[in-house]
Amino acid sequence: MPNVYLKTYGCQMNERDSEAVSAQLLAQGYSLVPTEDQADVILLNTCSVRDLAEQKALGKMSHLVNDSRQKPDVVFGFMGCMAQSRGSALLPRLPRKGLVVGTQKFHRTGEYLDRIRSGEAEKICDVAPEAGSESTIKEHLPPASLPNPKRRVSAYVSIMQGCNQRCAFCIVPDTRGKERSRPIAEIVDECRKLIAEGVREIVLLGQIVTSYGRREIGKKNGKSAFVQLIEAVHQLDGLERIRFTSPHPRGYGDDLIDAYPRLPKLCASAHLPVQSGSDRVLRLMRRGYTRERFLELIRKLRAARPQIGITTDIIAAFPGETETDFQETLSLVEEARFDNAFAFKYSPRRQTPAANWEQIPQAINEDRHSRLLAKVSEIGHQKYRQQLGRQVRILVEGPSRRNPDRLQGRTSCNKITVFEGDRRQIGELLDLRVHRIGSFTLYGDPL
Ligand code: 5AD
Repeated sequence: MPNVYLKTYGCQMNERDSEAVSAQLLAQGYSLVPTEDQADVILLNTCSVRDLAEQKALGKMSHLVNDSRQKPDVVFGFMGCMAQSRGSALLPRLPRKGLVVGTQKFHRTGEYLDRIRSGEAEKICDVAPEAGSESTIKEHLPPASLPNPKRRVSAYVSIMQGCNQRCAFCIVPDTRGKERSRPIAEIVDECRKLIAEGVREIVLLGQIVTSYGRREIGKKNGKSAFVQLIEAVHQLDGLERIRFTSPHPRGYGDDLIDAYPRLPKLCASAHLPVQSGSDRVLRLMRRGYTRERFLELIRKLRAARPQIGITTDIIAAFPGETETDFQETLSLVEEARFDNAFAFKYSPRRQTPAANWEQIPQAINEDRHSRLLAKVSEIGHQKYRQQLGRQVRILVEGPSRRNPDRLQGRTSCNKITVFEGDRRQIGELLDLRVHRIGSFTLYGDPL
């Protein structure tokens, strides 16, 4: 049986795509291996959102193809966003047998590998669009093939592909294509199967979930297609929790806010990328909302679910950002009181408008990024410290990442919580008292 090593870079969508490719290859008789040493096929599922992510994957591939310990006939492949964006320009980096598979072609990976391995082709590059590809990301790894513990508590479900927003900094509309949504019934069916395998939490995934089904499904009784989907998933027996990522503040309507008090399985957390706290920069970015509208959204969410955990993404040193604009981002972090935020240095991306504008010098970019990180952790730690002594309910997911002798789960607010327990508790809801706060981690004692 040929061995496949698959490494994933980037977001949850990429993780989900890799899972689906892995499931497909397993079904075709491949084995998945945890390291590259004995692999017959080496695949990197790539990210393009910042240059650093691309450089990591390119560096890894060049290291792999030059590794003399490699078997002679290995097939190397790039998949996903960078494959989509760079296409056949990547082939020369794969000196032997090579594969480049774009974001609408994941489901063809097995077929292409067979063709290359049989000698029918030496190199294949397919980054063409394919109608209906949004519905091809549905296979999940069979429970028996999951790593220890053989139990998936939380599962990602891809509900749509693409994004039509065209924010001035973002490469995703190019790498993921136009918005295409799967039908509600098909998604519910996939969720039902996962629940039958023991899944207790579903995370609905899309590049811009607040645009889900806008054209294909439309509004019904004042409810957006996305809220209709959440309601349909919510009805499934045996499911405890629903999460989603990522929404866009612009499409975050009152119907979605109203879903929080109505639907108890909907977790008290929202990842709401703000990008900047300056109206001038938000306009340059083409985000379609103002600072005030964003803050109002947060106020409404907190009114709907007082304990809601809110996280965000922020970009420092977007072209044209002045020190005054940046100060407004810092003050937004204070005002919004995010539980956590991912802070990024602006990175020019090919074929995006902002890449051609005058850039902020690297030293200023780095300085703003580190000041932003400091502010984000200051507020985040204050928010986490408020949890000390509180009772929280977590869904137990598995061994703690740092210390496999302990277990970890998440609160409804999406805070990782570590405790001393028994592996039989995996998949259960458990009440804990928080006795210590770590760096963006809670430590609790079971009650
Ligand atoms: N430079 C820096 N950060 C970016 N992001 C998207 N594009 C860029 C870019 N060109 C960030 C945004 C987005 C997150 C996934 O990545 O904050 O929400």
